[in-house]
Amino acid sequence: MFLLLIHGFPHSSRFWSPLTEALASRPELAGWRYEAPDLRGFGDAPPTPPLTLEQHADDCVARLDQLGVRRAAVCGLSMGGYVALALWRRHPERVRALVLADTRASADDESQRARRLELAALARREGAAAVAETQLAGAVGRTTRERDPARVDALRALMTGASVDGIVGALDAMRARPDATPLLPGITVPTLVVVGVEDVLTPPKLSRAMAAAIPGARLAELPEAGHCSAWERPEAFADALAGFLAALPDETPPDAASSSPHA
Ligand code: MLT
Repeated sequence: MFLLLIHGFPHSSRFWSPLTEALASRPELAGWRYEAPDLRGFGDAPPTPPLTLEQHADDCVARLDQLGVRRAAVCGLSMGGYVALALWRRHPERVRALVLADTRASADDESQRARRLELAALARREGAAAVAETQLAGAVGRTTRERDPARVDALRALMTGASVDGIVGALDAMRARPDATPLLPGITVPTLVVVGVEDVLTPPKLSRAMAAAIPGARLAELPEAGHCSAWERPEAFADALAGFLAALPDETPPDAASSSPHA
């Protein structure tokens, strides 16, 4: 019973601290273990090339290997959702369930690609603080901005800690990502789609379409939350996540004939 939490852009593993604190008090999740890695170029992970979404997915699997985890519930928010979908595409046997939060399956269009190039140029010219300031406007919902400025400031500080190499690498990776929409009907693991009602970067209508395309997927729309829903409303996110994880079918024991080293 293992949950892998994959952060968004330009965040780090610390993005998940409010959520993991909220999850810790859920009796229905007793026995669950959590891991929130830093993707290459963020937090304590050096920006060692290649900084691609595929490499991030492979790094997550390497981490599961290190921890002796055979299959994990994989939760990704925004860019983390792109990595979660890459992980499903490349290593479906390692995925027990998917949680796709404030993310999209489609690739960038031309204007989004142009915007990535502008943001990368801004990062090189003015550094992570300028990128954080630009991103923050869309990254949190109206309610959080109005009622919880300390939470916005803490997110700004987290984003400002990103390295320029990590930011530029992630922008290149997101610009190059393939359309994952064709994958959705073939997702065979239980899936929860989460979105903040006030998310203006990946608005709820995208999440509704994504959930509708994934067989049996659940959808949770979190009121008074924006794009960083797990950061803005950790208790509400934890409610949705805990309900979903607690209802997962029991893990199938590893094939006795397999010589897999995973637990
Ligand atoms: C994120 O929060 O990870 C970003 O908004 C993803 C993106 O820019 O597509």
